[in-house]
Amino acid sequence: MSVPREKYLSSVWADGIFTNKVLFCTGGAGTICSMQVRAFVALGGNACIIGRNVEKTEKGAEDIATVRPGSKVIGIGGVDVREPKALQSAADRCAKELGGVDFAIAGAAGNFLAPISQLSANAFKTVMDIDALGSYNTAKAVLPYLVESAQKHKNTGSAQPTGTGGRLMFISATFHYKGQPLQAHVAAAKAAVDQISHSIAIEYGPYGVTSNIITPGPIANTEGVERLSKTDPESMKASMKRIPLGRYGEVKEIADATVYLFSEAGSYVNGNTLVVDGGQWRTAGASESAAWQYPDFLMSGAAVEGVKSGRRSKL
Ligand code: COA
Repeated sequence: MSVPREKYLSSVWADGIFTNKVLFCTGGAGTICSMQVRAFVALGGNACIIGRNVEKTEKGAEDIATVRPGSKVIGIGGVDVREPKALQSAADRCAKELGGVDFAIAGAAGNFLAPISQLSANAFKTVMDIDALGSYNTAKAVLPYLVESAQKHKNTGSAQPTGTGGRLMFISATFHYKGQPLQAHVAAAKAAVDQISHSIAIEYGPYGVTSNIITPGPIANTEGVERLSKTDPESMKASMKRIPLGRYGEVKEIADATVYLFSEAGSYVNGNTLVVDGGQWRTAGASESAAWQYPDFLMSGAAVEGVKSGRRSKL
């Protein structure tokens, strides 16, 4: 499926910034991760995408490779992130066939809606294993390669002739910031993912490796939104009201954030979380009362009674 470039990448990035660099991405055939990889490849890089489903992963790789003639994108299917040995073999194969691993995204995740009353111990463990342990396994498999890359492409704060390298990224969620029913398993797993990233930032920063997290909010036309929310027009309208920017995000906006963190522009960002959600999780405490409904009350021009100055500026 050919995807127009403006759908997965802004026009602000310089072509060729990832030339001769290699990205290793678990879950790389998914709706969000495939666009992150696509953006990386469009800007000059090569990639290995890893997944459980062989056909989906191989087809996904073929599809991504069409964005740039001459690019190399390998789909390594049949790999479960819960299996450290399988992941290690995938990382070794990627390095052998493409010449190294300079960037990695731990993007594989499992999710479903279930209250604790319907969540067996095995169901909880399954998501913990895929998200938390799987992210850890991914990091363990690629870190030696990332250290090697970071040594070659020094992170000094000024432009390097060979560009950047040695950067790790995790994909997380905001459930554990704001509290969310039906997501006990994922909230626990993503809290662990966040901490794994922070720990790597501390322990591998001295080797020049950076570790950061991208936390997407509701992104339009993704598996996450389809699985985790109601997509009828009324429900979507209500959910968009809780997002300060009033809309769902685009996959391009996650890809752009990825390019930023992997590029020279993101060199001094380490141990951080970039939440790309239009401000959604910040409204977790927005009042539900009819009188103060968010954002209608703010947009209405009405003043709050009893404020000492009594004045209300136009904006
Ligand atoms: N509600 C409650 N429990 C569920 C569940 C659901 N919707 N889906 C799976 N489980 C439970 C199973 O019942 C089982 O527990 P049990 O042994 O007590 O019955 C346990 O989780 C493992 O299920 P299984 O299907 O064997 O796990 P799996 O490893 O094959 O797949 C997922 C688990 C999460 C990956 C699966 O739901 C899946 O394939 N999801 C699609 C990919 C995805 O989630 N992408 C993320 C998009 S945001």
